[in-house]
Amino acid sequence: MSEPKDSVIACRNLGKTFDDGRLRLQVFDSIDFSLARGERVAVVGASGAGKSTFLHLLGGLDAPTTGEVWVTGKKMSELSDAARGRLRNEALGFVYQFHHLLPEFSALENVAMPLVIRRMRREQAFQIAGDLLKRVGLGERLQHKPGELSGGERQRAAVARALVTRPACVLADEPTGNLDTRTASTVFELMLELNRELGTSLVVVTHDLRLAARMDRIWQLESGRLKAHDGPQPMAELT
Ligand SMILES: Nc1ncnc2c1ncn2[C@@H]1O[C@H](COP(=O)(O)OP(=O)(O)OP(=O)(O)O)[C@@H](O)[C@H]1O
Ligand SMILES: [Mg+2]
Repeated sequence: MSEPKDSVIACRNLGKTFDDGRLRLQVFDSIDFSLARGERVAVVGASGAGKSTFLHLLGGLDAPTTGEVWVTGKKMSELSDAARGRLRNEALGFVYQFHHLLPEFSALENVAMPLVIRRMRREQAFQIAGDLLKRVGLGERLQHKPGELSGGERQRAAVARALVTRPACVLADEPTGNLDTRTASTVFELMLELNRELGTSLVVVTHDLRLAARMDRIWQLESGRLKAHDGPQPMAELT
């Protein structure tokens, strides 16, 4: 395993316990993980195993109970909230399990948002966002608000939003969960294309072992541990 400082994302001794004073739930403890530039991994596991929690900690959306996370070599716990936010915007793209698009804004505005936040000119941001929406098959839906899109269309818009800044790493939580087989494959292919073009690393939570097999490795979260998936590992050279 490479050093945290040389990885796109890494964690050591990562643990998370939810404790509201009445109930104490240890989701996992002591997870060591690192992801090289361009590496693509799938994370599988039963519902409630902690997959979303793991992605939230890797992306700095939630703080670990124990251990440390590094994003592009920077230790998250040593950054101010503002610096952590900037690093997230610069280095990471998120696809949430539930799409998290802003309801008041059109698909085009939602996808352009991460670029606008980076102070890119609006015209340029909208151009790039529009091109990407076309690539996920939403060229005819640019002005639709999330409430006017189907579930699968929303998910594709969310994938476009995660990719639009060409981040070092995309953390995707069931990005194809609500999609039919063909659309799921198209969305997955788009992520793999970006991976090949830009060296974007991918961590994708999925229940679909057929899609998981297209990644370099499959990790399984089970009983609070991250381990190599029980089933066959992908043959990366084929993809
Ligand atoms: N904010 C929270 N407070 C208390 N418990 C939580 C919180 N978030 C998650 N949990 C619990 O932690 C465990 C892991 O949740 P998580 O959402 O990471 O599971 P998951 O593997 O993503 O499941 P799924 O496949 O259903 O999305 C679950 O038992 C859940 O109830
Ligand atoms: Mg989840």
